[in-house]
Amino acid sequence: MFNKNDILNKFQKLKTPFYYYDIDILKRNIESLIKYLDSENNKIHYAIKANSNNYLLKIIKEYGIGIDAVSSNEIKEAINTGFESKNIVFAGVGKSDDEITYAIKKNISYFNCESFQELEVINQLAKNLSKKINISIRINPNIKTETHKNIQTGFRDNKFGIDINDVNTIPSFIKKLKNINLVGIHFHLGSQITSNEPFIKLCKVVNDINNFLSENSINIKFINVGGGLSVNYNEPLNSFPNYKDFFNLYNSNINLKNNQKIHFELGRSIICQCGSLVSRILYTKQSFGRKYIILDSGMNNLIRPALYNSKHIILNLSSNSSDEELYDVVGPICESSDVFRENYSLPKSSRNDIIVICSTGAYGDSMSSNYNLRGNIKSYYSDTI
Ligand code: LLP
Repeated sequence: MFNKNDILNKFQKLKTPFYYYDIDILKRNIESLIKYLDSENNKIHYAIKANSNNYLLKIIKEYGIGIDAVSSNEIKEAINTGFESKNIVFAGVGKSDDEITYAIKKNISYFNCESFQELEVINQLAKNLSKKINISIRINPNIKTETHKNIQTGFRDNKFGIDINDVNTIPSFIKKLKNINLVGIHFHLGSQITSNEPFIKLCKVVNDINNFLSENSINIKFINVGGGLSVNYNEPLNSFPNYKDFFNLYNSNINLKNNQKIHFELGRSIICQCGSLVSRILYTKQSFGRKYIILDSGMNNLIRPALYNSKHIILNLSSNSSDEELYDVVGPICESSDVFRENYSLPKSSRNDIIVICSTGAYGDSMSSNYNLRGNIKSYYSDTI
């Protein structure tokens, strides 16, 4: 836990709401990741969609991590931050022609292609530029995960990748496309996956497809297994994701062939725990037996509770009361779903108290909107305030 009084003094001087990032947590977390990564056989691309804050990206870059982008603007942001093109991969189920052309011109490492039609389009656009492009094919392995249905991506109902039953047509299809080079296969089961079972199933699928491709004289170099490593939302400040088991699982269950590497695309696990959304209480009120805390931040700043029913730990830094009360902690937005927690126990709280919503570094600011014209909010960092 951070030192409550120190941090409270700092926060009280700042206009709320804002995002606050603890750089020490970020660095220690990445160091733990690096420690357990098999640097010979593994490579990490950070899923920039989780948080594209430039100050944080610069720190992530220092550790030699690459970027997993899903739009040309994400690629642009990564390049502007100093990431090298050769460390950038580009996924996404709907890449526009302009985006593909931009990425080809920037010589990124490879595209994760999600349909046969996309392969043809990339081939044509590469041809127009007289280039041969590295691509990896995203396969939907039809594996169910226990995560929230809105963040599951590798099940048959999900729009991502090509149907695993069509894998047998890849060799003949690829042969026709002269301006692409098949260098990898790509999977992403979903996000915040708390059990190892789906990952183990995925390794079996990977091995089968890897064997099938090599039997058909296609020698891929990269097996990209996406992200999905979960974080503990109940232990915001002092817990690191279980990188050890996660990397170990893949490294021991995937049978790599000569010169192959496993690529990971981690987002949440890298950036989640270092971020907090800091607000002030605007009002407290009682209505029909419920006690409300109304914050100056809302679903425009953090949409995860409304979209995925996610539960973030909330702290009242100002209150010294030893009496706890049950509150509905809500935002100012004109939507009934603008609720961070219901029936949540906090020390007795008052107007102007400083409230911290924890574990909001991932998919917090990056998913914020301008709804109700509330605009963007600032970010502050532990090493600069
Ligand atoms: N690779 C691909 C292809 C992805 O689509 C994603 C996340 C990742 C990697 C990174 O996954 P992670 O390591 O962060 O689990 N907004 C949601 C999460 C959506 C994830 C989208 N794709 C949330 O707030 O929970």
